[in-house]
Amino acid sequence: MEKQVIKVGLMGLGTVGTGVVRIIEGHQEDLLKQTGLPIQVEKILVRNKDKNRSIDVPIEKLTTDANEILDSPEIDVVIEVMGGIHPAKEYILTALEKGKHIVTANKDLMALYGDEILSLAKKNHCDVFYEASVAGGIPILRALSESFSSDRITKIMGIVNGTTNFILSKMSQEGADYHEVLAEAQALGYAEADPTSDVEGLDAARKMVILSTLGFHIPIKLEEVSVRGISQVTKEDITYAKNLGYEMKLLGLAEQNGEGIEVSVEPTLVHKSHPLASVNGVYNAVYVHGQAVGETMFYGPGAGELPTATVVVSDLVTVVKNMKLQVNGLGIASSYNEKKLKSDDQRFSKYFLRMIVPDQPGVFTQISQILAENEISLATILQQPKSKEKKAEIIITTHRASKQSFTMALAQMEKMEIVSEIKSYYRIEGGETE
Ligand code: NAP
Ligand code: HSE
Repeated sequence: MEKQVIKVGLMGLGTVGTGVVRIIEGHQEDLLKQTGLPIQVEKILVRNKDKNRSIDVPIEKLTTDANEILDSPEIDVVIEVMGGIHPAKEYILTALEKGKHIVTANKDLMALYGDEILSLAKKNHCDVFYEASVAGGIPILRALSESFSSDRITKIMGIVNGTTNFILSKMSQEGADYHEVLAEAQALGYAEADPTSDVEGLDAARKMVILSTLGFHIPIKLEEVSVRGISQVTKEDITYAKNLGYEMKLLGLAEQNGEGIEVSVEPTLVHKSHPLASVNGVYNAVYVHGQAVGETMFYGPGAGELPTATVVVSDLVTVVKNMKLQVNGLGIASSYNEKKLKSDDQRFSKYFLRMIVPDQPGVFTQISQILAENEISLATILQQPKSKEKKAEIIITTHRASKQSFTMALAQMEKMEIVSEIKSYYRIEGGETE
């Protein structure tokens, strides 16, 4: 018998879940016109039924027993917006075994277990959509998997973590200290009480796994992403960067050429002329370079109740349309390109390096010699005397050099008597010199 209504089991009624209920209820007529079927939230899984909520939901819809959703033959689609790996993973796998379609916003789960979940979905002719898992309200996953399907993507760069972008933007705009701004981000509810996953780059790394796997059709694993967070970035680094024409951003980078692929997340100096340099606050942006299309950029809110919920409900609309066409699960594409990870001698970048040295003759010569021996060419040098201590601060930017050369030069400099301290070093993206 043909379906008269699509019944949804919602797992989670927090920030995103609340937005999902609001959008499904508030946009009923549009959803009906687009899908031809009314959509109804049948059951909602929560931890605590008695919690005060910002939305009125009939108490009988709430449950603390996942089986009320998983075992219900009437529920066609499960929307998982609980977060975390367990028990979300087990619930999703069980739902797929029972032939239910999945919409999820869970980047932690999709970055670690995406392959397993998608294979089971394909086997059981079910859909799994996860647009909200990367960059909240920006429809970047559909763009990568559908709109770029005829092109070959060579580079994806993303500001995909709103918390760290808020912190770095404030540090840059107000000359504020990292710990000060982190405390403010926590007070405003942007950063969590334990901000480790955001500030140490793990959240962004998980999103880069999802973006690069989809964009390059190569199954990237989290441990293959080199990750460095922003907790060591100082206001002095940001000031020097600005004086040189750069903004500091926690940049996810996935790049492929004939030699292989590299994926990283690290604080990077982005030249002011690059569109990513002007992405500020909690906003996210993903820059995609395709061989045929050239440069494109997608910009928008990376989180928040309604921005995130709206892409979750758009995924739901696609599931319902696929149900009507009886094509669920057919769109799940396996990664078909061979994985060849670049080694450090194949990964090239420009670099920024800041160090403290004694203010005496011959220092520059020795440093230049180390750089030259490692085939690193200097682009700019700035010296700031620290007269009281008879020391000087040297800020160097380089032309493109391999990561291997730069790491070796750094290790050699750290051992030099004339180098009192290596203060910081960062990748550089954009700008005129190469
Ligand atoms: P949240 O506000 O913490 O809400 C989580 C909800 O799930 C709560 O309703 C909680 O129940 C319920 N829940 C959690 N664990 C449960 C369990 N074991 N059993 C039953 N219910 C459980 O989370 P959120 O911010 O909405 O995020 C949800 C997901 O969306 C996460 O994967 C997150 O990474 C992703 N996401 C969020 C945003 C955003 O802007 N927040 C943006 C993009 C992606 P109670 O209400 O009873 O505590
Ligand atoms: N913690 C994430 C961020 C939320 O700051 O961007 C959205 O995934």
